[in-house]
Amino acid sequence: MDISEILELADELVFVKTGQHLDYLQKSILRGTLKGQKYWKIAEETHSSEGHVRDVGSKLWKILSEGLGEDITKANFRAILEKAKIYRNNISSAIVGETITVNTLNICRENSRSDTPKPQTEQTPTQPHINLGDAPEIFSFFDRTIQLTTLETWILQQHSRLIAILGISGIGKTTLSLKLIEQIKHNFEYIIYRSLRFSPTLETTLTNLLQIFAPKTETPQNIETQLSQLINYLRQHRCLIILDDVHTLFSSKQLAGQYQTGYENYHLFFQLITQVTHQSCLIVNSWEKPREVVQLKKENNIIHCLLLEGLGEAAKEILRVQELLDEDYWQSLIEQYQGNPLWLELTSDLIKDLFAGRVSEFLQWDTLILSETLQAQLDQQFQRLTAQEIFVMIQLAKENEPVCLAHFIKKLDLPTSELLNAMQSLGMRLLLDVKECDRTRLFSLNPVLKQYIKNRYTETKIN
Ligand SMILES: Nc1ncnc2c1ncn2[C@@H]1O[C@H](COP(=O)(O)OP(=O)(O)O)[C@@H](O)[C@H]1O
Ligand SMILES: [Mg+2]
Repeated sequence: MDISEILELADELVFVKTGQHLDYLQKSILRGTLKGQKYWKIAEETHSSEGHVRDVGSKLWKILSEGLGEDITKANFRAILEKAKIYRNNISSAIVGETITVNTLNICRENSRSDTPKPQTEQTPTQPHINLGDAPEIFSFFDRTIQLTTLETWILQQHSRLIAILGISGIGKTTLSLKLIEQIKHNFEYIIYRSLRFSPTLETTLTNLLQIFAPKTETPQNIETQLSQLINYLRQHRCLIILDDVHTLFSSKQLAGQYQTGYENYHLFFQLITQVTHQSCLIVNSWEKPREVVQLKKENNIIHCLLLEGLGEAAKEILRVQELLDEDYWQSLIEQYQGNPLWLELTSDLIKDLFAGRVSEFLQWDTLILSETLQAQLDQQFQRLTAQEIFVMIQLAKENEPVCLAHFIKKLDLPTSELLNAMQSLGMRLLLDVKECDRTRLFSLNPVLKQYIKNRYTETKIN
């Protein structure tokens, strides 16, 4: 009898007893036990604490013991389940529906009494609890194969606990994370998506999350108790939680990644998620790199950061959906707008409205044309910048070639430390293009940002 058969039988017994299928940790304990692993080893592999694995294990033996009417322990589990399986295979379908006793083994068969939950005859993956709140619906999705595979590896194989998906507005963070859910949902018991776009306090966010796990229970007021309850759920169940728009927690008009007053405890929350053992994963989507992702980035696989860039060739599909014309010019359009799906969608609207969809006509002008909607998108990001950052961006927009810092420091009338902090902060906001040449870092702006700065700041600042 192989491991999967034993697990199937154990699952059946547990389901009949509790109305629930084996969860990820219970399965891992059974699998580990069958392989002769100690609790500490199972704990290591499931990223749980040994104490927690022991607790879950002992409850599981109790349920199985009650189900089979025989005292089951970690040591005798395999032998007894094998006996039960042989017995079960020998009984005829005629006795299905009854609890029967032979050689002291009680097996309540699948199609048991109507008041017990009805398990499935074939083992199907447990249905996860999915709570996506106000997540947008995805209508079309192109490519991102590499990013999805990378995220899947980090989450399912490396058991990463915190992942930041970073990128400029419109690049596709929300869409990618929702697609990821579709792809890996069967590996989780709970999947939760929440946007922090209205800057909820940590208490509000935790209350919201805890209510998903225990809807009828009153949520504690104390933030420490809330945190420890949430961590317990993250240990007991394998959960994937996506917090979107995390940049709203950071202050405007201050260097990147600084929490607004009253929101600093999110830092402790994110830190805790990375430091304590559990089997779940938190994904945060943001325009700005959170400091803990910078500070806590360790050699191990606990924290990861995915920098999302343009769609590239696949963006042609967006132009196709938009029914644009002149396919020969599409590549050029994609390059100019950085393959940013939202920028391309907004520009397609403009091309359709003013040029009847003719991309060649739209591209004939010397300057890059930015629709007002696109600029309004960028306004939201630029409103967060400090005066020094805007000054640096304006200067960078004037440069025709990428510049090195030494050149820039000499040229700009700004104290060196202020310039360096502003550059670092702009980097964390993902607004700079950086490349390395002969061990020197060169900085520049992409054509859309350059044009935006020219449009928005020309009269007052440029030339
Ligand atoms: N891979 C993709 N394929 C097709 N459309 C995409 C893709 N990624 C993003 N989009 C579209 O681009 C727009 C912006 O995406 P979104 O995920 O909201 O960006 P972000 O969350 O980074 O601001 C949406 O209209 C979305 O439908
Ligand atoms: Mg988004």
